[in-house]
Amino acid sequence: MTTANSYGLPDTEEIESWARVYFPEFEKADDTTTAYTPVVLPHSEATKATSNFGTSNFDVNRVRADFPILNERLSNGKQLIWLDNGATTQKPRQVINRISHYYEHENSNVHRGAHELAARSTDAYEASRETVAKFLGAPSKDNIVFVRGTTEGINLVANSFVKPLLSPGDEILLTILEHHANIVPWQLIAQETGAVIKVAPVDATGQIILSEYARLFSPRTKFTSVTHVSNALGTITPIHEMVQIAHGHGVRILVDGAQSVAHTPLNVSTLDADFFVFSGHKIFAPTGIGAVYGKSDVLEEAKPYQGGGNMIRDVTFERTVYNPAPSKFEAGTGNIADAIGLGAALDYVSQVGLGNISAYEHELLDYATCELTRINGLHMIGTAKEKASVLSFVLDGTTTEQVGKHLANHGIAVRAGHHCAQPILRHYGLEATVRPTLAFYNTADEIDALVKAVREIAK
Ligand code: ALA
Repeated sequence: MTTANSYGLPDTEEIESWARVYFPEFEKADDTTTAYTPVVLPHSEATKATSNFGTSNFDVNRVRADFPILNERLSNGKQLIWLDNGATTQKPRQVINRISHYYEHENSNVHRGAHELAARSTDAYEASRETVAKFLGAPSKDNIVFVRGTTEGINLVANSFVKPLLSPGDEILLTILEHHANIVPWQLIAQETGAVIKVAPVDATGQIILSEYARLFSPRTKFTSVTHVSNALGTITPIHEMVQIAHGHGVRILVDGAQSVAHTPLNVSTLDADFFVFSGHKIFAPTGIGAVYGKSDVLEEAKPYQGGGNMIRDVTFERTVYNPAPSKFEAGTGNIADAIGLGAALDYVSQVGLGNISAYEHELLDYATCELTRINGLHMIGTAKEKASVLSFVLDGTTTEQVGKHLANHGIAVRAGHHCAQPILRHYGLEATVRPTLAFYNTADEIDALVKAVREIAK
């Protein structure tokens, strides 16, 4: 690949220099390895598919009625079309009402206080932890630590469990698909300990090259942390195989579920992940609440993350005895109302059924991919066979900012930018894409409106 196009696609030399940064094994790779495959942006004609939209019989209007904000009119009079679900999801009445109920009838600190409201709030908070455990297929609610979100969850695991394992030269294995939240915490602990970060590559479609992931394990690998769904491309990674590969090398694995939890059924016990982390706000719950699932033995081994009230059994000025997990990791007063809101959101999703959601969204994604790729000059970024919810693209002759603004003028909310995943975008020679992201309340009509608006600006 030697020609530059309107996205400033790099020349071979530039690609090779990135490969050296992102794929430590690049120098050793000979012509027959797949350590690095130069990426060619797919042309729309090549990715056309026939959509089978409508076969899942999902009653989208029924779920839409639960989300008051979906009726919102914007200040320019346009009807809101929310296609920014990768950034955050909207909240159903069931969640909004549950949080109001908490503040109207239950508000109190938890695990403290000898009064009825303390009992009500503690019961509701712990019931929510139980709901999270059941939703994920965790053996017990003691495997669930409440955190602010995925970012805090990964920082917790990095500092509490992984950092104490590291000596200079030890390795942490990531993939090039990771969100910055699954890169920077590892860099911070690597800088402190002298550990190094290795990065598994993807193929031209944006899928992990499993053989390369496996090849990057060495006797120095102490931990691996990988996304289940790429927020920038939508790739669903072969997570079961990746867990098996990691365990085959005796290495513990964290699965970043931020972008998968609302879209793909998953059972952490069947998966055998050591840690699974997600944010509530990506699954119709409030912001500021999320959870870390950890196996019992890793949670026991991990050191406290922060010190303070609630996480202790006994304190003197000489020493502290900690509570067992999950309290050991929950210093201070938590986000009680929103944790309860998270439980309500997961109950709601369970009622609709994640299998139904996944099937419907898959149809919608196929339909949208099919329609968007018919637009001349539009290039989908991320064309893996297994994808969830994300439609990243660039459009010839426009900047992503222009497309984002044009869509916003039509009431269509998308993210345009680097999506906090610069390494994977740069792998494609890009600094930004336009990124519509779907949820189960989106409709084919909304996709038609998106496609119509993109066609307008493509002219
Ligand atoms: N991680 C969120 C996104 O992908 C904010 O947009």
